This record gives sequence, C-alpha cells and structure tokens, in this order.
Amino acid sequence: GTADIGVTGLAVMGSNLARNLARNGHTVAIHNRSYAKTQALLDDHGDDGEFVPSETTAEFVASLKAPRTVIIMVKAGAPTDAVIEDLAAHMEPGDIIVDGGNAHFPDTRRREAAMRERGLNFVGAGISGGEEGALNGPSIMPGGTTEAYATLGPMLEKISAKVDGTPCCTYIGPDGAGHYVKMVHNGIEYADMQLIAEAYDLLRSALGLSAQEIGTIFEEWNTGDLESFLIEITADVLQHTDAETGKAFVDIILDQAEQKGTGRWTVQSALDLGVPITGIAEATFARALSGGVPQREAARAANLTAATAGWEVADKAAFIEDVRRALYASKVVAYSQGFDQIAAASAEYGWDIDRGACARIWRGGCIIRARFLDRITEAYERDADLALLISDPYFAHAIGEGVESWRRVVAGAALNGIPAPAFASSLAYYDGVRAERLPAALVQAQRDFFGAHTYHRVDKEGVFHTEWSDDRSETQQD
Ligand code: 6PG
Repeated sequence: GTADIGVTGLAVMGSNLARNLARNGHTVAIHNRSYAKTQALLDDHGDDGEFVPSETTAEFVASLKAPRTVIIMVKAGAPTDAVIEDLAAHMEPGDIIVDGGNAHFPDTRRREAAMRERGLNFVGAGISGGEEGALNGPSIMPGGTTEAYATLGPMLEKISAKVDGTPCCTYIGPDGAGHYVKMVHNGIEYADMQLIAEAYDLLRSALGLSAQEIGTIFEEWNTGDLESFLIEITADVLQHTDAETGKAFVDIILDQAEQKGTGRWTVQSALDLGVPITGIAEATFARALSGGVPQREAARAANLTAATAGWEVADKAAFIEDVRRALYASKVVAYSQGFDQIAAASAEYGWDIDRGACARIWRGGCIIRARFLDRITEAYERDADLALLISDPYFAHAIGEGVESWRRVVAGAALNGIPAPAFASSLAYYDGVRAERLPAALVQAQRDFFGAHTYHRVDKEGVFHTEWSDDRSETQQD
C-alpha cells in the first residue's frame, strides 16, 4: 500500500478529518460503508490532497503502508465494534486501529485488551472541536501504547490546532486514558456552559437587560480572564435576532437542554471514584431539570410560593462586575474538580496522566479552549502532584479576589428565587473544602448510632464504637 493513514466513516467529522490529514501532506486512504460518501468526498474535495478511495475493507486495508493505521469515525457503541472487528480481520500484528469517536472509556479498555491479544494496537483518541475543528485543527487526546503513538502521534500532532506553535495533541496514557480525558473535557464543557447560562440569567433577572445588551457584556468579558471560545460564541448567540419573529434568538428556543451522554458518564465515574465534581454534576442535573417537563408543569400548576423580594440593584456596573467575578471563581472550581477527577482515575487505572499537559492541549482546538488554561498548566508545572488546583497560589489569589462578589451573587440569587445551582454549589464546595471542621463528624456519629459503623477520634488513634442503646460506653474495635 501507499497511503500513510486511513479514515473509515465519512460523515462530516470523518470526512473533515480525512481532508485535514490530506491538506497536511498525508496520503489518506478513505472508506465508508456505502461508497456514495467516499465518492462525494472525492468529488467535492478531491483537490485537498492525496486520497486513495476503496470500496471494500480488504482493499482499504491493503492500500495502507505498514504499520497500517486506520482512524474509525463512526457512531459510538455497536457500530464501532462492528467496524473494529471487520478491520482487525484484515490487519496484521503491529497495525493500529484508532477510535476517534466519543467512546465510553470502559468500552475503550475492553477493545484495547481484545485487540492487544491479537497483536494489534488500539488507540482511543478523544477529538474535540466539532466539525470546524476536525477540518482546521482539533484538540486530540490519544490513549494507547507508546509504540502506536510513535507512528500515529506525529500525524495527529501535525493536524491538531497549534497555540504558540505547540500542537494541541499529546500522548495521554494507556488504554482508556485518552477517551477518559475527553469525557472529563466534556463534563467541564457542561459546567462551563451552565455557569455562563446562569450568569446570563442573573444579569437578565436582576438588571432587566436585553439579550442583546448582555451579549455586549460577554463581548467585553471576552477581553479579560474569561476569554474563551464559549464566552465568545455566547456573545454572538445573544446578539443574534430571529429572522422570523424579530425577537432575540435565545427567546424563541425551547428551554430544555439535551445531552448525548458524556456529561452523565463523567458524573457516573466521579461517583465511582468518590470525587466531588459538584459543578459538572449540577450542570448535568440542570439539563435534566430543564427537560423534566411533567415536573415543571406540576410545579407551575401548584403555584409554588416564591416569597421573594423584588431585586433592586443600586449599582449596575458593580453588579455586573460581581457576576463576572463569581463566574470566574465558579469556573475555576469546576476545572479544579475535573482535574481532581482525572488524577483519581489516573491512579485507579494506572494511567500516569500529566494534568499540565491536558490543560496545554486544551488551549486550542477544543470547545473549552480558553486563555486561563495556561495558568492551569503553570500550576501543575509548579507542582505536578498538586492535590487541589485552587490551592495553587495563582488560583487561590484569583478566587480570593472574587469571593465577596461570589457570595453577594449567590445570596442575591437565593433571595430573589433565581436558580443558580452551579454558582451556588461551587461556592459551597469552596467553603467546604477550606473548612477547618465539617459536620461530617455528626454524620459519623449518626452512622455509629444506628448501624454500629464506628468512628475515629480526633484525640487518639484507633476505631471506636459507642454502645448507644446500652450504657453508652465506648469500646475500641481494633
Ligand atoms: C467537542 C464536543 C463534542 C460534542 C458535545 C455535545 O469536544 O467537540 O464536546 O464532543 O458535540 O460534547 O455534547 P452533548 O450533546 O452531550 O451536549
């Protein structure tokens, strides 16, 4: 064969990735279940570079140079398994199968183990940036063997987004590590989006601003610490007018947020690992609440009491600045929690993930790309084993500067009946994690009372139990 790399599954993401590879000087083998899509890619974009089309899997694999490297861009789940099986049957030991979809990491671990038994390399690569990113430079998170990365890595780095000349692609770790990191990226994406939506809602409710005016505020915010792709597109969306009605576009959209599942997976894994990712969880549940139509109807029909005062903001500019600071502080907490989760998973699965490198490859190409990711990389460069991102001096200071604003905003939202779950839970996390003493002591006592679940004491070593229903004497258990 002559092709450097192959892409199978030529829907928009696959076809854009193939074009990106070709534009960067690679000879790209292309294949799709139905040939029509392959032909369409050749017809519409054949002059992007060198393509080698094939009708069958056998021809497709034969058109590749060894070690044969194929990126699969098909629907996650059963379709991915079917394509892997088909490819593996035609491949030879040392060849490389890359799943570029949003696979659930346990699936990636299972597939990697199965392929390894057959001598094949399986790489689960998270790819972020949507259709635009796939074509012009995504952020890529590949997991698998370092041996596979030696062949694949340079090609992926070449087509990835660049920030200051540095590729937004790096080796993440063995088996499911890449897809795991992409999953957490998506969880953080949910939190970031929800926080921005809450900021918008607060500005609208408290100040009575129009969507258009709030769009201008976001535009302004995008020149400072908050500078990011999501803030930028939010400013754009808010200033867009619906052509049909002439209303603000955001007002003609049904307020029920959907999801394809990566946020839910992130929360599920966090529960398994025991990592509090309250920002991501609140964002995921906020989507669920918005989509809970019968519950929302029942609540409205019951006319549930609000008991709120009218929101009177004396100093508008100061309030806007409060919301900006509250947003930044909440965002830092959400990222801090996501990076804690990556560390916990890395330890659990033996992945040895470099969190600073994750932040570095998220600076460009992906949905959560943002200026402040540089600060995260720097924090992990200062201390690779940092237990808590917000304990890094830069972030501790940044949050410290915003904490009074944060409290005013969360308190104002509560007093005025505006739901701000991600703002509020991030603040509660901040206060919880920094607390000298937590009421967890009482929870432990309750557990011991009704279930003899034992407790530790602050003043001596050992495991203890109190005879609650007897004479309340204390016994040491170990
Ligand atoms: C990306 C995106 C991408 C997907 C969103 C949408 O990184 O390019 O994250 O993977 O479009 O995750 O996810 P939901 O449908 O779950 O909101």
